[in-house]
Amino acid sequence: MSKLVAGNWKMFGDKNMISEIKKIDQHCNEVRCEVAICPPFPLILSAYEQTKNIQIGAQNCHTDINGAHTGEVSAEMLTEVGAQLIIVGHSERRQDNYESNDIVKLKSEAVHRAGATAVVCIGETLKERETDKTLSVLQEQMLNSLPKNVNPLNTVVAYEPVWAIGTGLVPEIDQIRAAHSFIRGFLASTYGAEAHNVKILYGGSVKGSNAKEIFSISNVNGALVGGASLKSNDFIEIITAASNSI
Ligand code: PGA
Repeated sequence: MSKLVAGNWKMFGDKNMISEIKKIDQHCNEVRCEVAICPPFPLILSAYEQTKNIQIGAQNCHTDINGAHTGEVSAEMLTEVGAQLIIVGHSERRQDNYESNDIVKLKSEAVHRAGATAVVCIGETLKERETDKTLSVLQEQMLNSLPKNVNPLNTVVAYEPVWAIGTGLVPEIDQIRAAHSFIRGFLASTYGAEAHNVKILYGGSVKGSNAKEIFSISNVNGALVGGASLKSNDFIEIITAASNSI
């Protein structure tokens, strides 16, 4: 299956940075992988209007279509301005905004309702890893935050060990392989044969220098990239690794 390289810009990026998105888009004219950028909300529309080879996504949405929820944005509002995928359950939101698995599940369902792809993030903390709880944490997060109807078009799972995000630390290759194989097994036993083609991304300190090795691991179908997605040159190195890894 073709790999997906998705950039998560977090709360970085002003309107001048649309030029970075345009450079990435131009580069993606002939790559053999899928590419997406999830900028902050205010940049989504212009990013969408000025690209043709990549997908534009968002980093969060509300569970409802509309309503008296000051400061919130619905999945429908995001798809209307061009978002084709929406990240839900990122560990920063689970921590900073107290998002539970139940909320993440409702948000995933909202993304499906709006016709977009939910990029559902899961991952263990360092303490959980050190106390051998990684697989049980992943199981619990998948059981409770993935929606009912998961298929390769409407859902991507992103495995992001919390301790690897923005730290420069990356798990051992065997640790990534074990987590991704566990996630694949869960998806197959829960959702059936179709789930074999649901993309499972790895996220956490992916950069040009480690992307090739990470993409060679079985059941790693791409990457969710934070810091290294902010500069087109850095991100293009990762895209090239994904494009060459088929
Ligand atoms: P990072 O972030 O690549 O900067 O570690 C990844 C993420 O938070 O999705």
